[in-house]
Amino acid sequence: MTTALSWRLAEPADVPGINALTARSIRALHADSYDPAVIDEAVSHAYGVDWQLVRDGTYFVAEIDGAVVGAGGWSYRQTIAGAHGPDDPPGDRLDPAMDAARVRAFYVDPAYVRRGVGAVLLRLSEDGARAAGFARAELTSTIPAVPFYASFGYAPVRPFDLRLPSGSTLRLELMDKPLIPRSDPDR
Ligand SMILES: CC(C)(COP(=O)(O)OP(=O)(O)OC[C@H]1O[C@@H](n2cnc3c(N)ncnc32)[C@H](O)[C@@H]1OP(=O)(O)O)[C@@H](O)C(=O)NCCC(=O)NCCS
Repeated sequence: MTTALSWRLAEPADVPGINALTARSIRALHADSYDPAVIDEAVSHAYGVDWQLVRDGTYFVAEIDGAVVGAGGWSYRQTIAGAHGPDDPPGDRLDPAMDAARVRAFYVDPAYVRRGVGAVLLRLSEDGARAAGFARAELTSTIPAVPFYASFGYAPVRPFDLRLPSGSTLRLELMDKPLIPRSDPDR
C-alpha cells in the first residue's frame, strides 16, 4: 500500500543517499539535454547536496513509504549553484532586505517524477525564505527543469554557465520570482 508523501529536514546521515538519488535523477532526466561527458562530470562535481544547507536547516527530503524520493531546499547564503562538501567554507549571508533567497539543489527520484514531489519541496523552500524576510527568490535551473520552475512563476533572467573542472561548462538558466504572500495554496 502506498502511503502519502511526507517531508522532513535533511540530516547529515541522509547525504550519501541523496547524492545517489541525485545521480540517478540526473542520468535519467538529463540525457536529452546535455552531452554525456558533461553529465558525467557534472554528476561528480556540480550536482548533489550542499552540506551548508543541511547544517542551516534549510534542506528538505520528501519520503514515500519511508524511502527518500526527493530533496530540495533554499538558502540565505550567497552560493547559488554547485555541490559543496562538508569542509567547504559557508557562503556569505544574504541580506533579505536587498537580496534574493536562493532555491537550491532540487532532485526527484526518476521513478517518482510528476507526482508533486518537487512541488511540495518548492513550497516548503519558498515558505522558509518568506518567513526569513526575503521578498524574492533566485535559482539556476538545469535546462530540463525550466518548465517546472516556470510553472511556479519563475521567469528566465539569463543563461548561467557553471564552469566544470575540465574547463567545459554546464549550461543553466538563472531564474527569479517575487515571493509575494501565497494566495493560491497550490502554487
Ligand atoms: C525538476 C524536478 C525536480 C521536478 O520534480 P517533480 O516532482 O517531477 O515535479 P512535480 O511533479 O512537482 O511538478 C509540478 C509541476 O511542474 C511542471 N513540470 C514538472 N516537470 C516538468 C517537465 N519535465 N516538463 C514540463 N513541466 C514540468 C508541471 O506543471 C507539473 O505539474 P503537473 O505534473 O500537474 O503538470 C525533477 O524533474 C528532477 O529531479 N529533475 C532532474 C534534476 C534537476 O534537473 N533538478 C533541477 C535542479 S535546478
